[in-house]
Amino acid sequence: MSDTRFISFSGKGGSGKTTTMSLFLSAILRRNIFKEILVIDADPDANLSETLNIHVETTLGEVLDKRKKELEGPAAAGTKLRFLIWDSIGHGNGFDFLVMGHTTGTGCYCSVNSVLNEVLVETVTMYDLVLIDFDAGIEHFSRRSGNPSDTLIITCDPSRLSFDTAKRIKRLIEELALPYERQFLMGCRFDQNQKALFNGLAEEVGLEVLGMIAYDAEIATKNLLGEDLLSLTPDNPSIKTVQGILKQLVPDSETI
Ligand SMILES: Nc1ncnc2c1ncn2[C@@H]1O[C@H](COP(=O)(O)OP(=O)(O)OP(=O)(O)O)[C@@H](O)[C@H]1O
Ligand SMILES: [Mg+2]
Repeated sequence: MSDTRFISFSGKGGSGKTTTMSLFLSAILRRNIFKEILVIDADPDANLSETLNIHVETTLGEVLDKRKKELEGPAAAGTKLRFLIWDSIGHGNGFDFLVMGHTTGTGCYCSVNSVLNEVLVETVTMYDLVLIDFDAGIEHFSRRSGNPSDTLIITCDPSRLSFDTAKRIKRLIEELALPYERQFLMGCRFDQNQKALFNGLAEEVGLEVLGMIAYDAEIATKNLLGEDLLSLTPDNPSIKTVQGILKQLVPDSETI
């Protein structure tokens, strides 16, 4: 077993998963702590490529659709699939990028998810760090496949509903006995004055607080302009917050 680190982001729709993951990637690249990094956009309604300014030619779902016939039969599942997966990985500045996308026609993502599982198994030996931006809500946890252990960060925005979703995620993980080693709650778009309130709600959820990112005008402006989040100014407060969190999450002694 290699010592690949997995950090996954989950939470209610719009709660800040993609933004937080992008901030983590940005902080990780600035600190230069992992050599081989893979970012997986596991949200079928993907928009991570905008926040990371990297575009892949094809999603894994599209590739699977296109090559479906070839993939039928026992011999194909191994080698061919492996090649297709590696072909759909994009190469960014300091990280690789895989967009899961979705298959069309059946309305079911089962094939993508079983492939996700394979990709993750493959990547264990290929990458030092895998960051995963999950789709909103809790359904992907029930599919079990593609849920690596290690660290899960559940994002919450200033809405009670996002804490309800966090509670449901926590309960489901317990029910399914998913082997996450560490689960945290992360606040997004909170006002500093709401810190005590946030901590209280996190306690109700029963999850350790990782940190709280304030509403950030630079992030909002970049979103409106369609600009990526890897180019935030060096003194951006959200980056500084995430850099501090990262120091706790990945101490220098654990870096590669
Ligand atoms: N700290 C912040 N300051 C300002 N705006 C933010 C902040 N965090 C997130 N946003 C904005 O909130 C919106 C939702 O954030 P984001 O897309 O990261 O959520 P998500 O959980 O990934 O959503 P989805 O479920 O649709 O994938 C976006 O417009 C984003 O720019
Ligand atoms: Mg998102």
